[in-house]
Amino acid sequence: MIEETLPTPEEVLAGCKSVLDKNQKGDYTVPAEGLYPHQWLWDSCFISIGLAEYDIERAKTELRSLLRGQWSNGMLPNMIFANGDAHKRDRNIWQSWRNPHSPDDLTTSGITQPPMLAEAVVRIGKKLDKVERRSWYQDMYPALVAYHTWLYTERDPHDEGLVLLIHPWESGLDNSPPWIDQLHVHSKPTWVRGIEKLKLDKTAVLFRRDTQHVPPGQRVSNIDALLYFNIIRRLKRKNWDIERILARSHFTFQDLTFNCIFIRANQHLKSIAKTIGHHLPEDLEENMKRSEDALDNLWDGFYKQYYSRTFITRKLVKEPSLAALMPLYSGAIDQERAEELVKLLKSPSKFGAKYPVPSVPMDSSWYKEFGYWQGPTWINTNWLITDGLRRYGFDKEAEKIENSSIELVTKNGPHEYFSAKNGKPAGARNFSWSASLIIEMLSRKKNVKKES
Ligand code: GLC
Repeated sequence: MIEETLPTPEEVLAGCKSVLDKNQKGDYTVPAEGLYPHQWLWDSCFISIGLAEYDIERAKTELRSLLRGQWSNGMLPNMIFANGDAHKRDRNIWQSWRNPHSPDDLTTSGITQPPMLAEAVVRIGKKLDKVERRSWYQDMYPALVAYHTWLYTERDPHDEGLVLLIHPWESGLDNSPPWIDQLHVHSKPTWVRGIEKLKLDKTAVLFRRDTQHVPPGQRVSNIDALLYFNIIRRLKRKNWDIERILARSHFTFQDLTFNCIFIRANQHLKSIAKTIGHHLPEDLEENMKRSEDALDNLWDGFYKQYYSRTFITRKLVKEPSLAALMPLYSGAIDQERAEELVKLLKSPSKFGAKYPVPSVPMDSSWYKEFGYWQGPTWINTNWLITDGLRRYGFDKEAEKIENSSIELVTKNGPHEYFSAKNGKPAGARNFSWSASLIIEMLSRKKNVKKES
């Protein structure tokens, strides 16, 4: 047998940097060539976190380029579409121009994605000296305040402290069981039921582009793709106007992952404001406080875990997913609860896989080895979980996940996701956030070593 020689950490680092170079399109970086040809919101945030380790100017440019897409009401869209005839169809599906708040000179989606921007801004800030940091924060502050304010104004209509989402893609974990389960119950129109019954879904989705790049078994099912498309169609008919959207019983979700990331983003925004000597608007501060307390409403004492809940019924959706671990990242839970979550993380039948952290627990009926957000391990969620674990003092647990993430990318390259059972790669190759977050993890390790 030929002994496999693995690349050294330096080689992995160089490989990841070259992926980010290949995926660079002027001022921003696409998630992956072909499959994801536009700029995505939380992808660019994760990308800039890796870039900050070696090219601070490019990291700043990556984030500034996101602000091109900000709507005048503060919304940051999950996608800013690339120009050119090749992308006309995508622009037409969304028609952001129907909403008066959308930018004039480019087209975007009409929905958002997890608010990772404040974290990315702070990660860059940490690499700058005091004067540069203040000026960087001054630059980004107005956009951040507008975005966080928009999230409360439009997405928390009853001042509950929890924001609601209107499309599963806003959660970032597009196809996660709680969403899919609920969509099939509450948001399946008759025409989709018909297609499902007559088994016509193969022909109904000839328009799909993603399955031309990645095997269908690694993407969402045709029926789920139709459900997503149907929501876009409905939202577009309302011109992406939240009042009109909420006036009808549109399916809405208080998503656990999104709200945890938002809570952490609020903490970062507070520290940004402090650094530059600004007072946040009073309303915003009150809302921020409310959010930290409101997370408790998503806790289930019996199962000893957090869940998302539907906005209309206020019922927790007890379908298992990796979101359960995200309160660690929020930093808003107490040590006792954090310990409960670490039990879940370590349990072999839950999230304690050979290559952690699986996107659904190993014993779930939803678990599929290569199912899209329904089993595989992703590098960005690993990064979020390790960051949270460290803040709660679980350094050993964090290191285990970090080492396993590095091993996955060392052996296979920065793929989109990996089997939690045996580490086999899947999804897009040369995936930007896998590359950038491994750069961050490797650089951090090097710095820790230097310091000790
Ligand atoms: C998929 C992922 C989403 C990501 C996008 C671009 O839609 O689910 O989180 O932002 O791809 O990488």
